[in-house]
Amino acid sequence: MTNKSIKSSTMKTFIIAAITADGFIAKNASHTPLEWTSKEDKQFFSQRTKQAGVVVFGQNTYKTIGKPLPGRLNIVYSAKQYEGVETTQKPPEELLADLEKRGFKEAAICGGSAIYTMFMQAGVVDTLYLTVEPVFFGQGMNLFNKEIDAKLILKSMKKLGDTTMLLEYGVEN
Ligand SMILES: NC(=O)c1ccc[n+]([C@@H]2O[C@H](COP(=O)([O-])OP(=O)(O)OC[C@H]3O[C@@H](n4cnc5c(N)ncnc54)[C@H](OP(=O)(O)O)[C@@H]3O)[C@@H](O)[C@H]2O)c1
Repeated sequence: MTNKSIKSSTMKTFIIAAITADGFIAKNASHTPLEWTSKEDKQFFSQRTKQAGVVVFGQNTYKTIGKPLPGRLNIVYSAKQYEGVETTQKPPEELLADLEKRGFKEAAICGGSAIYTMFMQAGVVDTLYLTVEPVFFGQGMNLFNKEIDAKLILKSMKKLGDTTMLLEYGVEN
C-alpha cells in the first residue's frame, strides 16, 4: 500500500517523532522516549502539540505514557476505554473529518510505529517533525512498520540546544 490516496479533509496533520541517529523510535513496544530524549525535544513536543490542540496515539504508546497529556485533546487508537481520553478505531480520514467538524485545524500524530504507518499510508500527513537525538540503538522499532512510498521536501533544519537536530519535512502528495 502507498500513501497516494486523496486527502478528503482540509485539516493539517503532522507526524512528530524523536529518532536515534541510527533511525529508531524505540528499542521495543514498551520503551518510552522519555528515557532517552533531550529536554529540548520534550519542550518542542509540548509546545508544538499544544499549538495543534489534538494528540493522537496508538494504545502501546499511550500505555507508556499512562495518563492524558494536559491542555490537549487526547485520542487513543484502541478497542478499550481509558479515563480522560477519547478512544477511536476510525480510519484516519474519518477521524480528521470529525475533528475538523469540531473546529480543530491541526492534529499531531504522536506514534508509535503502527499509528505513524496508518496515517502515512492513508496519505493524510502534510508535515513530519523529526528530532534526531545523539544515540544509537543498533536495533529496535522503525518510524514505520510497513512499506511506505513517499517523497519528502526538506523545509527546515534547526539545532535544539547542544545535542539535538530538528528536521521539518513536507510530504509531496
Ligand atoms: N520516539 C518517538 O518519538 C516515539 C513516539 C511514539 C511512540 N514511540 C514508541 O513506539 C512504540 C509503540 O509503537 P507500536 O507500533 O508498538 O504501537 P502504537 O502505534 O503505539 O499502538 C498500536 C496499537 O494501537 C491499537 N490500534 C492501532 N490501530 C487501531 C485501530 N484502527 N483500532 C483500534 N486499535 C488500534 C492496537 O492495539 P491492540 O493491538 O492492543 O488492539 C495496536 O497494537 C513504543 O515503544 C513507544 O514508546 C516512540
